[in-house]
Amino acid sequence: MTLTALVTGATSTLGEAFARSLAAREIRLILTGRHEGKLSELSTSIPGVDSFVPCDLAVDLSPVLEHTRHTSIDILVNNAGVSRVAHFHHMPTTDIDEQIQLNILALTRLCRHYLPPMIERGHGRILNVASIAAFHPFPNLSVYAASKAYVLSLSESLAEECNRSGVGVTCLCPGNMATEGQSPDTHLSVPDFLKLDPVVVADTGIESLMSGEIICIPDKVHAAAVAATQHQPRWLMRRLAGIATRLTRST
Ligand SMILES: NC(=O)c1ccc[n+]([C@@H]2O[C@H](COP(=O)([O-])OP(=O)(O)OC[C@H]3O[C@@H](n4cnc5c(N)ncnc54)[C@H](OP(=O)(O)O)[C@@H]3O)[C@@H](O)[C@H]2O)c1
Repeated sequence: MTLTALVTGATSTLGEAFARSLAAREIRLILTGRHEGKLSELSTSIPGVDSFVPCDLAVDLSPVLEHTRHTSIDILVNNAGVSRVAHFHHMPTTDIDEQIQLNILALTRLCRHYLPPMIERGHGRILNVASIAAFHPFPNLSVYAASKAYVLSLSESLAEECNRSGVGVTCLCPGNMATEGQSPDTHLSVPDFLKLDPVVVADTGIESLMSGEIICIPDKVHAAAVAATQHQPRWLMRRLAGIATRLTRST
């Protein structure tokens, strides 16, 4: 049976890498993002793209829901996400709203829409992309980190609720990646040698999804850092995160 996957944020470096990783496993693809031109380009360069649907998920999900109305989605990759770097009291409310609408609301609604038929069919997989920022508060990335903590918590709860249903939910928590379009307004400035390869991150995420892992931290250094810091006092982690983000903020 050919499986079908819906990939959000397919126009991003990581989204494209997810699409290629799924295509290599002979999974049929439906891609979404806002940029129609890039989606069209991907649909010709990636084998196995069934169709694409341009959609601003922060505004209205209905184009995607309508487009997939007669298709069984076996795999949902919730990859679309935005980040904004700023002190909370300086952050425009539109930037706050966009992060909440895309990272939290759209992701939740897509899970809610595609999960029930997966449970009914007794099979399905959801990959929610969070971040290493999900594990601790991050001053200067406050809304982003809080949104990713939500994604991690939601994914873990859903994974447990879906236990023995044949449906798996995986939360991918990468560190900083070498992706296109990073700017001081959206990402902390991290030295290149610390940046992860999005192709490796995507492949590791898809492997974890297929093998039913619930939390995937795709590289050993961040996995060890998360393990080492989980039992530290919260005040210490807040302070350290504050110092780290002050040092790595480039504006
Ligand atoms: N880059 C990193 O270092 C890093 C680290 C950890 C986690 N992550 C997470 O990885 C995922 C991908 O990140 P990335 O760095 O590859 O992001 P990116 O390059 O900024 O791309 C964001 C993706 O989301 C889509 N998107 C943005 N706003 C949208 C909207 N309103 N409606 C629909 N789609 C929208 C974009 O598509 P269009 O532009 O076509 O709309 C694009 O495909 C995100 O969830 C991010 O939080 C990234």
